[in-house]
Amino acid sequence: MNLQETFQKFSADKHVHHFGDFYEQFLGPRKDSVRRLLEIGVAFGNSLRAWQDYFPNARIFGIDHAPEKCFFEGRITCFVGNQDHRESLREAHAAVGGDLDVVIDDGGHRINQQVKTLAEFFPSVVPGGVFIIEDLHASFSPDYGLLADGSNSIYKMLTTFQEKGTFAHGCLEPSDVEYLQEHVLSCHIFSRRTGHGKAGRGKGKAMSLAAVLIKKGVPNV
Ligand SMILES: C[S@@+](CC[C@H](N)C(=O)[O-])C[C@H]1O[C@@H](n2cnc3c(N)ncnc32)[C@H](O)[C@@H]1O
Repeated sequence: MNLQETFQKFSADKHVHHFGDFYEQFLGPRKDSVRRLLEIGVAFGNSLRAWQDYFPNARIFGIDHAPEKCFFEGRITCFVGNQDHRESLREAHAAVGGDLDVVIDDGGHRINQQVKTLAEFFPSVVPGGVFIIEDLHASFSPDYGLLADGSNSIYKMLTTFQEKGTFAHGCLEPSDVEYLQEHVLSCHIFSRRTGHGKAGRGKGKAMSLAAVLIKKGVPNV
């Protein structure tokens, strides 16, 4: 079963966004080699269960700020952590540990949360590993922290990296910038109009937008 079908089997919202179709090229070749996967944003656990099904040899970790969302089941272990605060992410990170083959940010979707989460967890991605940021469309809305001049857009940060190979954002420490510039190999952005989701809000069809960042190094496939 491919990833898109697996998301559908577990009623994971990622299926509606067609994220499985996009991720397959990056994750399919790693199906058996992925040992440790982390997703930030647990909700009802649908995507964690889908990952558990898709990666037969992986331990699956979830982080959510809501303790009631956190659960333990099969190879799945969840921890409490809040993307608003780097210190809270640091504590959850310590509980999860390092050597992460795949990290997915599907949490609060606010710009500052997405940037802090990237800065905190990218160093723990294994060489050649994958870091995914979902629902970037949220970053186009002041509701999710976009400044009036658009200068803090994470989409802008990622497309600037694609064009110039540099990272800059107010939520990144100089050491984060240095690390990302030195270790991000490539950034791939998926964009699709889906006709689904809250982002539509009467303004026409919604956008599905996600980024896949690949770390430099030889992947363990
Ligand atoms: C879109 S849902 C996750 C869906 C899940 N990944 C799936 O595909 O089935 C977002 C989750 O992020 C969590 N969340 C919201 N704000 C957060 C924050 N500041 N820190 C950590 N988690 C947060 C919510 O509690 C919610 O469970």
